Amino acid sequence: MMVDREKQLAVLRKRLAECAGGVGGALTVTGPVACGKTALLRAAEAPARSLGFEVRAARAADAGRREPLGLLRRLFMAERLPADLPHGGAPWVRMMNTIWAGAVTARPLLLSVDDADEADEASLRCLDYFVRRARSAPVLVMVSERSRAGRAVRPVRPCHEVVVGPVGADGVTEMARRRLSPRAAERLGPGLHRLSGGNPLLVRALLADLDGYADTLEQAVGHHYRQAVVALLRRAGGAELQVARCLAVLGDQGFPELLERMPGLDGRAVDAAVTALGAAGLLLDGRFRHPAARLAVIADTGQRDREELHRRAAELAHGVAWALSRELSRELSDAEQRVATLAAHGYRNREIAKRLSITVSTVEQHLTKIYRKLNIDGRASLRRAVPPQARTPDLVSPG
Ligand SMILES: Nc1ncnc2c1ncn2[C@@H]1O[C@H](COP(=O)(O)OP(=O)(O)OP(=O)(O)O)[C@@H](O)[C@H]1O
Ligand SMILES: [Mg+2]
Repeated sequence: MMVDREKQLAVLRKRLAECAGGVGGALTVTGPVACGKTALLRAAEAPARSLGFEVRAARAADAGRREPLGLLRRLFMAERLPADLPHGGAPWVRMMNTIWAGAVTARPLLLSVDDADEADEASLRCLDYFVRRARSAPVLVMVSERSRAGRAVRPVRPCHEVVVGPVGADGVTEMARRRLSPRAAERLGPGLHRLSGGNPLLVRALLADLDGYADTLEQAVGHHYRQAVVALLRRAGGAELQVARCLAVLGDQGFPELLERMPGLDGRAVDAAVTALGAAGLLLDGRFRHPAARLAVIADTGQRDREELHRRAAELAHGVAWALSRELSRELSDAEQRVATLAAHGYRNREIAKRLSITVSTVEQHLTKIYRKLNIDGRASLRRAVPPQARTPDLVSPG
């Protein structure tokens, strides 16, 4: 049972009633990851049926972006749709007309598309076409999509928008009441809200952890919560998963300048990801709300990725020369220190050249001088000359 969605359901019911009266169109359910978009779509289906709607539902993610017309095929069970069809030409219009004529009867129709941001381009264009025709027909195209900062196009337009965010404090207590005794729910509600940020997936997990305990929340935080944090981030994927992993592994050292310089991330992507994870309730002020969340993400990151993050952090956080001992740094020029540190970290000459934007032959010249100055005979000795704590910098011990 859903809590805290009365307003959204009221808008949905109103749109359904208008549509049943002959004025259809589109309605988008947006919100951060795991805040209840799918749950709201499902909840709209019952009132639709009682208003006499035929309901056709599909999850765009099942077909994926790469199968042209994959979503449309699932929505209309139209096996005979061509593999693809150029948009807008006469055959395309004929196909649209055929689908429309087959699906749209006197009975109102609800087309419910979950995760529309995962849909293939060709299907989205067809949905746009239906939305335009639906303005004077009893057809409602209802889609859900993640709210993402900086996204340029909406999957379907024009449309009404219904937003679902984290559940409010009263809603969280209400969720607790359904699982715990009324007294325990009142007592633990505020803590549950703080810890989950109101994200219903996390609230449910914490309630499952509390089962049998129900003493203090702190004692109860357990594997359901940890699993839910990881599940939430896997659902989010992309930059959000990457940023969360950086934050977890590197802790305070990872934020914010460092994150922006991680591969595949720039300032805007980091900002958008931190904002999105904050809106979902996982982060507060750019940090995990509970150490258990951070530990769960660290455990989920895998040792190789963790080591790579530490290594990059070591280079970036203090500049690449930080790792050399004072004695060595006195001997070497700044450029030589940078080359020596990277070489000691195990980088090859070509990688060092790329990283420092110099030529391979400059790297070789630097290394020759470094070996001479330090009176050593090559890279292996250089590794020995650089102190171990500098070679495998352990900036943060998890926990
Ligand atoms: N209003 C609510 N009250 C109680 N539980 C809810 C509510 N909304 C969602 N839930 C529960 O929270 C979990 C996540 O919801 P759901 O899968 O619908 O989120 P979503 O926004 O569709 O996620 P995604 O971004 O991954 O598509 C589910 O277990 C769902 O049952
Ligand atoms: Mg969903």
